[in-house]
Amino acid sequence: MQMKEFAKNPLIMKIAKGVWYEDVNGKKYLDGLSGIFVVNCGHGNQRIIDAIKTQLDTLSFAPPLHSTNVNALALRDLIVGVTPKGLGTVKLMSGGSESTEAAMKLARQYHKQTGNPGKYKVISRYEGYHGATMGALAASGVAKRKTAFEPFGPGYIKVFPPTCYRCPYKLEYPECGVFCAQIIESVIKQEDPSTISSLIVEPIGNTGGIITPPQEYFTILREICDKYNILLIFDEIITGFGRTGEMFASQTFRTTPDIICMGKGMSSGYAPIGGIAFKDSVAEAFLGKDEQKVQFNHGHTFGGNPLSCAAAIASITEIKERELPRRARESGAIVWKRLEELRDKIGIIGDIRGKGLLIGIEFVRDVKTKEQFPDSMSFGVQVGKAALRRGLIIRADPHWVALAPPLVIEKGEIDEMINRLSDSIQDALSSVGR
Ligand SMILES: Cc1ncc(COP(=O)(O)O)c(C=O)c1O
Repeated sequence: MQMKEFAKNPLIMKIAKGVWYEDVNGKKYLDGLSGIFVVNCGHGNQRIIDAIKTQLDTLSFAPPLHSTNVNALALRDLIVGVTPKGLGTVKLMSGGSESTEAAMKLARQYHKQTGNPGKYKVISRYEGYHGATMGALAASGVAKRKTAFEPFGPGYIKVFPPTCYRCPYKLEYPECGVFCAQIIESVIKQEDPSTISSLIVEPIGNTGGIITPPQEYFTILREICDKYNILLIFDEIITGFGRTGEMFASQTFRTTPDIICMGKGMSSGYAPIGGIAFKDSVAEAFLGKDEQKVQFNHGHTFGGNPLSCAAAIASITEIKERELPRRARESGAIVWKRLEELRDKIGIIGDIRGKGLLIGIEFVRDVKTKEQFPDSMSFGVQVGKAALRRGLIIRADPHWVALAPPLVIEKGEIDEMINRLSDSIQDALSSVGR
């Protein structure tokens, strides 16, 4: 949004509790987006607040340069306990972009230290988003977020994502044989496998409209990466910590990557934190006396910050103890059912996709032909604006919207969320004369 436009009537939040925000004028908003895919445990969680307060009295900073701290170690143990087996090494950062940058750099240095110094290229997907810093942006595939900052460094290759509803190859699943995954092997061959270091993907892609691949997609990617000695990186900055119905989408899709990037829901937003968890076999390349095996040359001042770690420990413990991944699965099923009813009622929902409490809704003018509303109408954005007026926060894009409420959302609040969304869609339809 143009800042001039925002400044005319800025939305200024004052307090939040559970799934509700309240602005400075006392208006309440149901947070249908967990802030921005962050507040998995909900707002005002007392356990996390207390953990941060207590931590302030003991240790608030210990730089990663000359020490680690008890919280960083405890958090490492907790993360290893909830990530897929074998990802035994953890490096902590301050947010998502730092984590994806670190993952891509780790892959390059790993190959240099294991006898493949020519492996530097990164394969990623159009429509993907991996962060705002230069390397993360170079791997991202959304023109409107990138063009102003180009050119980036060389070696960032893009492939099409698994957008089944609008397949770029005009194929139908399952007859397609998941061609969008298979073709990555051809891209690797064309580029020369000895130059490719990593393949980075979001298990479910936000920016393209909650792009959700078929189950086999990641099995195929895993096989291809193994065949050509390419590190598979899952950017789980949105999908991590319960969002898709398991702790990580790697578990939802039953595929273990070499590196998982995390952020956002890691502390439920109570303090900035991110990190990567990676395979012991990768870590091995950085350990030992061999002169070639130097440490990972990457660090950030606030990596492993004890306050942020305290928030993350409390948040992850809360997610585990309250079984929030299971709740995401169950609540997601309720949301899905209500959306199907809405689809029957209003007839302009072309596709519903996602997993757990990460759900995208694509609008179309004609469900049979999948014809979209004109770009100029920006229908999804109109729905988003109407939702805001009705006290509901969602993710809105010209052709789709997304719901990702805190995992603690209650049944009654789900009804409220869907009712407000339904009314907002009707508002947007009226505004375009339908
Ligand atoms: C999938 C994904 N990766 C990386 C990032 C970057 O995270 P951060 O904004 O914390 O740097 C984001 C942020 O939205 C994201 O959605």
